[in-house]
Amino acid sequence: MKPAQGGILVLDFGGQYAHLIVRRVRELGVPCQLVPFSIPTSEVRESGAKGLIFSGGPASVYAKGSPKPSPDVLGLGLPILGICYGHQLIAHLFGGAVKPAPKSEYGESTLKVRAGSAILKRVPPRSRIWASHGDQVTKMPAGFQVTATSDNSLFAAIEDRRRRIFGVQFHPEVTQTEYGSQILASFVYDVCGCRKTWMLGDFIETQVQDIRRKVGGERVLCAVSGGVDSSTLALLISRAVGENLTCLFVDHGLLRKGEGEEVLRTLRDKLGLSVVLVDASRRFLDALRGVKEPERKRLVIGAEFASVFREFNQKEGPFRWLAQGTLYPDVIESASTSGPASRIKAHHNVAGLPKGLPFELLEPLKELYKDEVREIAAMLGMPHEFLVRHPFPGPGLAVRIVGEVTTEKLNVCREASAIFEEELRAAGLYEGLWQAFAIVGDDRVVGVTGDSRRNGYLVTLKAVTSVDGMTADWVRLPEGLLDSVSRKITNRLPEVSMVAYAITDKPPATIEPQ
Ligand code: XMP
Repeated sequence: MKPAQGGILVLDFGGQYAHLIVRRVRELGVPCQLVPFSIPTSEVRESGAKGLIFSGGPASVYAKGSPKPSPDVLGLGLPILGICYGHQLIAHLFGGAVKPAPKSEYGESTLKVRAGSAILKRVPPRSRIWASHGDQVTKMPAGFQVTATSDNSLFAAIEDRRRRIFGVQFHPEVTQTEYGSQILASFVYDVCGCRKTWMLGDFIETQVQDIRRKVGGERVLCAVSGGVDSSTLALLISRAVGENLTCLFVDHGLLRKGEGEEVLRTLRDKLGLSVVLVDASRRFLDALRGVKEPERKRLVIGAEFASVFREFNQKEGPFRWLAQGTLYPDVIESASTSGPASRIKAHHNVAGLPKGLPFELLEPLKELYKDEVREIAAMLGMPHEFLVRHPFPGPGLAVRIVGEVTTEKLNVCREASAIFEEELRAAGLYEGLWQAFAIVGDDRVVGVTGDSRRNGYLVTLKAVTSVDGMTADWVRLPEGLLDSVSRKITNRLPEVSMVAYAITDKPPATIEPQ
C-alpha cells in the first residue's frame, strides 16, 4: 500500500505545523503523507490519495516566487482544504484577492459559523480557534461563499461546495483550536470519503513484504545504536529477510553509561538478532579532537560512521543495503532542498553521511513519528524497559558536550547523566519524560571544597517532555529531586563546581545543545 493510498496528501508550503496536520489525520485512522508543494500531478494521481490539504507557510501569495502547486493539481477534481497560507492560496488561485492585514493576527480568536458547511457541521455556532497570519483574504473568488467569520477575519472559512474546495484562515491542526479535529474529520471522512485504514499492524505487514521485494536474497547491514528506532528497524528487517540481516553496533565512545552491555543483552540475548559490536571509540575521539563547532562535529561523526561501515563491508560483506532508522521528523528537520522548511540540524543519519557509500539505503520507518515507532516496537516484541528508554542521538554525548569533546568532559557528561537518570527512575518520573540528561561545556566556575578553591565545571541538567521531538517543554521537576541530583553530582564528581537546570522550551532552544 502506498503511504497515502485512500487517504490525504498534505502539500508542504513551509508551515511549521505542516507535520502536525499529518499527525492529526493519521490519528483519525486515515493514511496521510507530507509532500513538497511542487509535487507533479502524475505523482498525486499515482499516490491514490482521495483529498489534498494545502499547509500553512511563511510566504505571501502575491510575492514574486511564492510557492504555488502545479496548476494541473487543481484540475484533478480532488477535494482540497487550504489552511492559512493554503487558504489564501486558494482565494488567490481562483481569482479572489489577498492583501496584508491591517494587523497581524496571532493567537486565539472566536469562530462564528455563518452558513451550513460540510466541514463545519461538527462545530457549534461559536468556538475557540487559533490563528497566525499577516495576510488576509479580502475578496472571495467566484463560486465561493463564506461559511464562518472570526474576530479578525470576514473570511475565516470559505468554500466552493460544488468543486469541494475549502479554505480556513486558522489552524485546525493545533490543539488550541477547540473543534480542529472535528473539522479535519469532516473533511477526510465526509468530503473525501476516506476510511480508517491507517493501522500500524498493517504497516508492519506491508513493510515486511515491501522490504522482501526490494532486497530479494541480498544482504542487509543495519547500524543499531541502542535506540528504539534502530532496534525496531532491525526487528522489522529481520522479520523480512531473516539471516540476511547483520546488525552492526558501533561503540563510538560517546555512549551513555552501561549502554553497550544493555544493548547487546537486549538485542542479542532477548530478541535473537545477530549483532556485531565494533569498538571504534579511539578513532571517533581522535577524529573529534579540536572540533568545536556543532555542525562540524556531526559531519565528522557521520564521516567516521561511514568509514566504519565501509571497512566492515570490506571485511564481512558485501552488503548491498544499509538500513537506517530515519524517522519523519528527521527528514523534515534535515530538509535542505526538498521543501521550503529550513534546515535545522544535520541529523547524522539523514544529511550527515557522506555521499558515495557503496550501499543502497533502506529506510522503512521514514514515514513514521516516534510514538508510532514505539507502538510498532511493542507489536514486534520489544521489552518494556527497552521501549521506554529515552531517545539518544546518533552522535551521542558529543552533542551534549559544548565545545571540544575531551575525555574529562565526556566522563563528567556521562556520569552526571547517569546520576540524573538514576534519580528520575527512583522517583518514578523517568518514563513520563521525553529526554533528561546533563550538558557540559567549557565554562568554569569557582567552587570551594573543604578549604580549597578550584575552578570546576558547570553542569546543566535538562529534562523535557515532547510528543515527537519537534517541539518540547521543559519540565518543572520537584525541587527535592533537583536538590538531590545536584548534591550527588558534586559529591561524586569533584571536578564539578556548579549544577544548573535548563528552563527553555523548544523552540526557541533545540533539545540537544549542539
Ligand atoms: P533537537 O536537538 O534537534 O533534537 O531538538 C530533536 C530530537 O532528535 C534527536 N536528535 C538526533 N537523533 N541523530 C539522531 O539520531 C542526530 O544527529 C540527532 N540530533 C538530535 C534529539 O535527541 C531529540 O530527541
